Amino acid sequence: MKRLAYIKTFGCQMNEHDSERMLALLEGCGYGGTQRWEEAHLIVVNTCAVREKPERKAYSILGRLESFKHKNPGLIVGVAGCVAQQEGERLLARFPSLDFALGPGKIYHLPEILREMERGRRGLCEVGFADRPSKDCFLSHAKRLRAYVTIMEGCDNFCSYCIVPYVRGRERSRPGSEILTEIEALVQMGTKEVILLGQNVNSYARSNPHELTFRQLLSKINEIQGLERIRFITSHPKDFTEELIEAFARLERLCEHIHLPFQAGSNAVLERMSRGYTREEYLAKTRKMRDVVPKISITADAMVGFPGEREEDFAQTLDVLREVEYDGLFSFKYSPRRGTRAACWEDDVPPEVKKRRLEFLQEFQRGITLKKNKELEGEVLEVLVEGCSKNSHREMMGRTRCNRIVNFPGGSELVGELVGVQIREGLPNSLRGELCR
Ligand code: 5AD
Ligand code: SF4
Repeated sequence: MKRLAYIKTFGCQMNEHDSERMLALLEGCGYGGTQRWEEAHLIVVNTCAVREKPERKAYSILGRLESFKHKNPGLIVGVAGCVAQQEGERLLARFPSLDFALGPGKIYHLPEILREMERGRRGLCEVGFADRPSKDCFLSHAKRLRAYVTIMEGCDNFCSYCIVPYVRGRERSRPGSEILTEIEALVQMGTKEVILLGQNVNSYARSNPHELTFRQLLSKINEIQGLERIRFITSHPKDFTEELIEAFARLERLCEHIHLPFQAGSNAVLERMSRGYTREEYLAKTRKMRDVVPKISITADAMVGFPGEREEDFAQTLDVLREVEYDGLFSFKYSPRRGTRAACWEDDVPPEVKKRRLEFLQEFQRGITLKKNKELEGEVLEVLVEGCSKNSHREMMGRTRCNRIVNFPGGSELVGELVGVQIREGLPNSLRGELCR
């Protein structure tokens, strides 16, 4: 009987991609994937340390797995991701049933770890950083329509609230030639859309004058025959250049969507966050984006309750929402992360104030998102069909170039196709439409 692996993923696309990589490595070791943890022979909890909430959830799952493992002693349980990187040995001590801890830079050690497990070893801890991101290309990508491709890892920015530079290490970029070869291989295997991944893609190969710049890399990827769409995440506003804005107008495969986290609307807060831009500079960039590419969809991350955030500061965050009219927004309550500079400051915005500000902000944004979705009614948009819709087998689901989910009546023969869909209804989180024949 095939052994089954279940991976629980917390956090960002980086982590989702790491889970895909782990699954591919596990397939190479004879495991199959399962969505049901009860039937798994191996469980990996891929953790995220960026905010308190997902970290707490990961701890709670690890706690529950302790008792589950007592009933299933043959089960192998591992922890991966940024909490494993940060807490390694401490996690193994706190959860005695844990068999291994694996940092994000050591994912490729997973097969070795499993071999050690077969020899009866337990309590293995593999953390630390690789010198550069490893190759991504795995056969399990073969049927993936939309493939993630890591172009750089780590971050040198040290925003005062952020744990990433500590748990993902300094910036490292992959050679451009390797990235291009990998995307060509993916396209041969059926990939239509690539999502270039990096904590800060705009500083791709920043310190290497012999390497392609990010803009040049985009041009080269744009030339790959058979590839239909290119996206990238995440961009840092301070490194987001005019040249890159122009790229959206010039490169036909680059989708009209940019994720540009602004975090806070007040200059005083941005300064304490060490973001390296002012609200005026940020707003000027988004205005320029909309001038050059009027249909561009802009999304962002924002935080409420950073130390010292007053009502006036929060009002300025709302002002940014009002001015930019984001197509979508990910928003969070600030939580101190041990080891960061901001964690040394008093977390002085009371929890109930953080809660109220977050709820207000999210309600405000819901109205904007719905309005933007309604504005698309009547338009015919290009949709890459991904599969059956969640709600009905008679409906298909796909994504527009502006990164909206669209549901429409249709059959599974459309999967993998680029089709025109006329939008009939803009909903709070998606669009509904009809196929144009
Ligand atoms: N508290 C709350 N949110 C945070 N983020 C990063 N660090 C913290 C923190 N300490 C948010 C930022 C970032 C997103 C990935 O998570 O908005 O862009
Ligand atoms: Fe964290 Fe700032 Fe780096 Fe983004 S740019 S990963 S928020 S330190």
